[in-house]
Amino acid sequence: MGSAAARWSELQSGRGIPPEILARAPVSPWGHDPADFTPPDEPADTPSRAAALSLLAPAGTVLDVGCGGGDAAFALVGPLTEAIGVDVAQDMLDVFEAAADVRGVPARTVLGPWPDVAADAGPADVVVSHHVLHNVVDLGPFVDALTAAAGRGVVVEMLAEHPMAWLDPLWERFHGLHRPPSATVDDAVAVLRERGVAPEVTLWDRELRLPHSPEWITRRLCLPPERAPEVAAAVAEIPPRTRTAATLVWRP
Ligand SMILES: C[S@@+](CC[C@H](N)C(=O)[O-])C[C@H]1O[C@@H](n2cnc3c(N)ncnc32)[C@H](O)[C@@H]1O
Repeated sequence: MGSAAARWSELQSGRGIPPEILARAPVSPWGHDPADFTPPDEPADTPSRAAALSLLAPAGTVLDVGCGGGDAAFALVGPLTEAIGVDVAQDMLDVFEAAADVRGVPARTVLGPWPDVAADAGPADVVVSHHVLHNVVDLGPFVDALTAAAGRGVVVEMLAEHPMAWLDPLWERFHGLHRPPSATVDDAVAVLRERGVAPEVTLWDRELRLPHSPEWITRRLCLPPERAPEVAAAVAEIPPRTRTAATLVWRP
Protein backbone atom coordinates (compact mmCIF):
# COMPACT_ATOMS: atom_id res chain seq x y z
CA MET A 1 0.00 0.00 0.00
CA GLY A 2 1.34 3.45 -0.92
CA SER A 3 1.77 6.17 1.68
CA ALA A 4 -1.33 8.14 0.56
CA ALA A 5 -3.49 5.01 0.69
CA ALA A 6 -2.06 4.15 4.13
CA ARG A 7 -2.88 7.67 5.38
CA TRP A 8 -6.43 7.39 3.99
CA SER A 9 -6.91 3.99 5.63
CA GLU A 10 -5.63 5.26 9.00
CA LEU A 11 -7.87 8.35 8.97
CA GLN A 12 -10.92 6.28 7.99
CA SER A 13 -10.25 3.61 10.60
CA GLY A 14 -10.16 6.34 13.25
CA ARG A 15 -13.80 7.25 12.54
CA GLY A 16 -15.34 4.06 13.92
CA ILE A 17 -17.43 4.03 17.11
CA PRO A 18 -15.50 2.40 20.00
CA PRO A 19 -17.17 -0.89 21.04
CA GLU A 20 -17.76 0.24 24.65
CA ILE A 21 -19.80 3.25 23.43
CA LEU A 22 -21.65 1.13 20.87
CA ALA A 23 -22.51 -1.43 23.58
CA ARG A 24 -24.30 1.29 25.61
CA ALA A 25 -26.30 2.64 22.59
CA PRO A 26 -30.04 2.13 23.22
CA VAL A 27 -30.66 1.68 19.46
CA SER A 28 -28.37 1.15 16.49
CA PRO A 29 -26.72 4.44 15.47
CA TRP A 30 -26.50 3.27 11.85
CA GLY A 31 -30.21 3.12 10.96
CA HIS A 32 -31.26 4.92 7.81
CA ASP A 33 -34.47 5.32 5.85
CA PRO A 34 -33.86 4.29 2.23
CA ALA A 35 -36.76 6.54 1.18
CA ASP A 36 -34.48 9.49 2.04
CA PHE A 37 -32.37 8.38 -0.94
CA THR A 38 -35.19 8.52 -3.52
CA PRO A 39 -33.84 10.57 -6.44
CA PRO A 40 -35.64 13.88 -7.05
CA ASP A 41 -37.96 14.22 -10.07
CA GLU A 42 -35.87 17.16 -11.25
CA PRO A 43 -32.15 16.36 -10.91
CA ALA A 44 -29.96 19.00 -9.33
CA ASP A 45 -27.83 20.82 -11.86
CA THR A 46 -24.38 20.07 -10.45
CA PRO A 47 -20.81 19.92 -11.80
CA SER A 48 -20.99 16.10 -11.36
CA ARG A 49 -24.09 15.85 -13.54
CA ALA A 50 -22.60 18.16 -16.18
CA ALA A 51 -19.38 16.12 -16.30
CA ALA A 52 -21.22 12.80 -16.57
CA LEU A 53 -23.56 14.13 -19.29
CA SER A 54 -20.63 15.29 -21.37
CA LEU A 55 -18.91 11.89 -21.07
CA LEU A 56 -22.17 10.08 -21.84
CA ALA A 57 -23.28 12.04 -24.92
CA PRO A 58 -24.90 11.12 -27.20
CA ALA A 59 -25.94 7.93 -25.37
CA GLY A 60 -24.57 5.16 -23.21
CA THR A 61 -24.67 2.95 -20.13
CA VAL A 62 -23.96 4.06 -16.56
CA LEU A 63 -22.64 2.03 -13.63
CA ASP A 64 -23.51 3.66 -10.29
CA VAL A 65 -21.28 2.33 -7.49
CA GLY A 66 -22.70 2.75 -3.97
CA CYS A 67 -25.83 3.81 -5.84
CA GLY A 68 -28.27 4.26 -2.96
CA GLY A 69 -31.51 5.18 -4.73
CA GLY A 70 -29.64 6.15 -7.92
CA ASP A 71 -29.40 9.91 -7.49
CA ALA A 72 -26.25 9.99 -9.67
CA ALA A 73 -27.45 7.63 -12.43
CA PHE A 74 -31.00 8.95 -12.78
CA ALA A 75 -29.75 12.53 -13.09
CA LEU A 76 -28.60 11.33 -16.53
CA VAL A 77 -31.99 10.32 -17.94
CA GLY A 78 -31.98 11.23 -21.62
CA PRO A 79 -28.66 9.87 -22.88
CA LEU A 80 -28.86 7.05 -20.29
CA THR A 81 -29.57 3.74 -22.08
CA GLU A 82 -29.08 1.37 -19.11
CA ALA A 83 -28.41 1.95 -15.40
CA ILE A 84 -26.50 -0.64 -13.36
CA GLY A 85 -26.65 -0.08 -9.62
CA VAL A 86 -24.22 -1.64 -7.12
CA ASP A 87 -24.80 -1.37 -3.38
CA VAL A 88 -24.22 -3.37 -0.20
CA ALA A 89 -27.80 -2.64 0.93
CA GLN A 90 -30.74 -4.43 -0.70
CA ASP A 91 -33.19 -1.77 0.53
CA MET A 92 -31.20 0.84 -1.41
CA LEU A 93 -31.27 -1.36 -4.53
CA ASP A 94 -35.06 -1.64 -4.15
CA VAL A 95 -35.31 2.17 -4.27
CA PHE A 96 -32.95 2.18 -7.30
CA GLU A 97 -35.13 -0.34 -9.15
CA ALA A 98 -38.31 1.59 -8.37
CA ALA A 99 -36.70 4.82 -9.61
CA ALA A 100 -35.70 3.07 -12.87
CA ASP A 101 -39.26 1.74 -13.35
CA VAL A 102 -40.84 5.18 -12.82
CA ARG A 103 -38.49 6.66 -15.44
CA GLY A 104 -38.78 3.75 -17.89
CA VAL A 105 -35.00 3.21 -17.83
CA PRO A 106 -33.65 -0.35 -18.34
CA ALA A 107 -31.81 -1.25 -15.13
CA ARG A 108 -29.92 -4.01 -13.38
CA THR A 109 -28.73 -4.22 -9.78
CA VAL A 110 -25.85 -6.05 -8.10
CA LEU A 111 -25.84 -6.61 -4.34
CA GLY A 112 -22.45 -6.61 -2.63
CA PRO A 113 -19.36 -4.62 -1.80
CA TRP A 114 -17.35 -2.86 -4.49
CA PRO A 115 -14.80 -3.89 -5.73
CA ASP A 116 -15.61 -7.53 -4.85
CA VAL A 117 -18.65 -7.57 -7.16
CA ALA A 118 -17.06 -5.64 -10.04
CA ALA A 119 -17.08 -8.68 -12.34
CA ASP A 120 -20.82 -9.23 -11.74
CA ALA A 121 -21.55 -5.58 -12.50
CA GLY A 122 -19.50 -5.59 -15.72
CA PRO A 123 -18.24 -2.50 -17.53
CA ALA A 124 -20.22 0.60 -18.54
CA ASP A 125 -19.55 3.66 -20.67
CA VAL A 126 -19.55 5.95 -17.63
CA VAL A 127 -18.98 5.02 -13.98
CA VAL A 128 -20.35 7.28 -11.26
CA SER A 129 -19.84 6.97 -7.51
CA HIS A 130 -21.34 9.69 -5.32
CA HIS A 131 -20.80 10.04 -1.57
CA VAL A 132 -19.21 6.62 -1.11
CA LEU A 133 -15.46 7.30 -0.77
CA HIS A 134 -15.83 8.46 2.86
CA ASN A 135 -17.28 4.97 3.60
CA VAL A 136 -14.25 3.17 2.17
CA VAL A 137 -11.12 2.21 4.12
CA ASP A 138 -9.05 0.47 1.41
CA LEU A 139 -9.36 3.15 -1.28
CA GLY A 140 -6.73 1.98 -3.80
CA PRO A 141 -8.52 -1.19 -5.02
CA PHE A 142 -11.85 0.67 -4.90
CA VAL A 143 -10.74 3.39 -7.33
CA ASP A 144 -8.72 0.97 -9.50
CA ALA A 145 -11.91 -1.01 -10.12
CA LEU A 146 -13.86 2.19 -10.95
CA THR A 147 -11.24 3.00 -13.60
CA ALA A 148 -11.20 -0.55 -14.97
CA ALA A 149 -15.01 -0.62 -15.34
CA ALA A 150 -15.24 2.67 -17.27
CA GLY A 151 -15.25 2.81 -21.06
CA ARG A 152 -15.24 6.60 -21.29
CA GLY A 153 -14.79 8.09 -17.83
CA VAL A 154 -15.41 8.15 -14.08
CA VAL A 155 -17.23 10.82 -12.07
CA VAL A 156 -16.84 10.73 -8.29
CA GLU A 157 -18.63 13.16 -5.98
CA MET A 158 -17.67 13.53 -2.32
CA LEU A 159 -17.93 16.02 0.50
CA ALA A 160 -14.81 17.99 1.40
CA GLU A 161 -14.63 16.06 4.68
CA HIS A 162 -16.33 13.00 6.18
CA PRO A 163 -20.08 13.71 6.31
CA MET A 164 -20.13 13.09 10.08
CA ALA A 165 -16.93 15.03 10.89
CA TRP A 166 -18.96 18.08 11.96
CA LEU A 167 -20.22 16.00 14.94
CA ASP A 168 -16.68 15.38 16.25
CA PRO A 169 -16.98 18.15 18.93
CA LEU A 170 -20.12 16.41 20.22
CA TRP A 171 -18.34 13.04 20.55
CA GLU A 172 -15.78 14.88 22.65
CA ARG A 173 -18.47 16.64 24.71
CA PHE A 174 -20.80 13.69 25.37
CA HIS A 175 -18.31 10.80 25.39
CA GLY A 176 -14.88 12.38 25.94
CA LEU A 177 -13.88 10.79 22.63
CA HIS A 178 -11.24 12.67 20.67
CA ARG A 179 -11.36 11.82 16.99
CA PRO A 180 -8.52 12.21 14.49
CA PRO A 181 -9.10 14.72 11.68
CA SER A 182 -11.28 13.64 8.75
CA ALA A 183 -9.84 12.46 5.45
CA THR A 184 -10.29 15.20 2.83
CA VAL A 185 -10.64 15.55 -0.93
CA ASP A 186 -6.89 16.21 -1.10
CA ASP A 187 -6.28 12.87 0.64
CA ALA A 188 -8.49 11.10 -1.93
CA VAL A 189 -6.74 12.83 -4.83
CA ALA A 190 -3.37 11.78 -3.38
CA VAL A 191 -4.52 8.14 -3.44
CA LEU A 192 -5.69 8.53 -7.05
CA ARG A 193 -2.32 10.01 -8.06
CA GLU A 194 -0.61 7.06 -6.40
CA ARG A 195 -2.70 4.80 -8.68
CA GLY A 196 -1.59 6.76 -11.78
CA VAL A 197 -4.77 8.84 -12.12
CA ALA A 198 -4.79 12.65 -12.28
CA PRO A 199 -8.44 13.70 -11.82
CA GLU A 200 -9.92 17.08 -12.68
CA VAL A 201 -11.24 18.48 -9.39
CA THR A 202 -14.11 20.99 -9.08
CA LEU A 203 -15.17 22.33 -5.65
CA TRP A 204 -18.73 23.64 -5.22
CA ASP A 205 -21.49 24.17 -2.64
CA ARG A 206 -24.05 21.40 -2.36
CA GLU A 207 -27.64 21.64 -1.17
CA LEU A 208 -28.08 19.71 2.11
CA ARG A 209 -30.62 16.95 1.47
CA LEU A 210 -30.71 14.30 4.15
CA PRO A 211 -32.50 15.14 7.41
CA HIS A 212 -30.31 15.59 10.49
CA SER A 213 -32.88 16.28 13.20
CA PRO A 214 -31.81 16.45 16.89
CA GLU A 215 -33.37 12.96 17.32
CA TRP A 216 -31.28 11.61 14.41
CA ILE A 217 -28.08 13.14 15.79
CA THR A 218 -28.86 11.83 19.29
CA ARG A 219 -29.20 8.29 17.93
CA ARG A 220 -26.06 8.71 15.85
CA LEU A 221 -24.18 9.74 19.03
CA CYS A 222 -25.38 6.52 20.73
CA LEU A 223 -27.38 8.56 23.29
CA PRO A 224 -30.92 7.83 24.55
CA PRO A 225 -33.79 9.79 22.92
CA GLU A 226 -34.54 11.81 26.07
CA ARG A 227 -31.23 13.63 25.59
CA ALA A 228 -32.36 15.13 22.24
CA PRO A 229 -33.02 18.64 23.71
CA GLU A 230 -29.54 18.70 25.25
CA VAL A 231 -28.07 17.55 21.91
CA ALA A 232 -30.06 20.23 20.03
CA ALA A 233 -28.59 22.92 22.33
CA ALA A 234 -25.08 21.55 21.79
CA VAL A 235 -25.53 21.44 17.98
CA ALA A 236 -26.38 25.16 18.04
CA GLU A 237 -22.89 25.84 19.44
CA ILE A 238 -20.81 23.98 16.83
CA PRO A 239 -19.98 24.95 13.22
CA PRO A 240 -22.57 23.66 10.71
CA ARG A 241 -21.84 20.60 8.61
CA THR A 242 -19.90 21.27 5.47
CA ARG A 243 -21.68 21.94 2.20
CA THR A 244 -18.47 21.94 0.19
CA ALA A 245 -18.53 19.12 -2.32
CA ALA A 246 -15.98 18.01 -4.89
CA THR A 247 -16.44 16.48 -8.32
CA LEU A 248 -13.50 14.32 -9.44
CA VAL A 249 -13.41 13.32 -13.11
CA TRP A 250 -10.99 11.09 -14.93
CA ARG A 251 -10.74 9.02 -18.09
CA PRO A 252 -9.47 5.44 -18.14
C1 LIG B 1 -24.19 8.12 1.44
S1 LIG B 1 -24.91 6.86 0.47
C2 LIG B 1 -24.88 7.62 -1.16
C3 LIG B 1 -25.91 7.04 -2.09
C4 LIG B 1 -25.97 7.66 -3.48
N1 LIG B 1 -24.76 7.39 -4.23
C5 LIG B 1 -26.26 9.13 -3.40
O1 LIG B 1 -25.38 9.94 -3.73
O2 LIG B 1 -27.39 9.49 -3.00
C6 LIG B 1 -23.61 5.66 0.35
C7 LIG B 1 -24.07 4.36 -0.28
O3 LIG B 1 -22.93 3.57 -0.58
C8 LIG B 1 -23.19 2.23 -0.21
N2 LIG B 1 -21.87 1.61 -0.02
C9 LIG B 1 -20.93 1.94 0.90
N3 LIG B 1 -19.81 1.22 0.70
C10 LIG B 1 -20.03 0.43 -0.39
C11 LIG B 1 -19.24 -0.52 -1.11
N4 LIG B 1 -17.97 -0.81 -0.76
N5 LIG B 1 -19.80 -1.14 -2.16
C12 LIG B 1 -21.08 -0.87 -2.53
N6 LIG B 1 -21.86 0.02 -1.90
C13 LIG B 1 -21.34 0.68 -0.84
C14 LIG B 1 -24.09 2.35 1.01
O4 LIG B 1 -24.86 1.19 1.24
C15 LIG B 1 -24.97 3.54 0.62
O5 LIG B 1 -26.12 3.16 -0.10
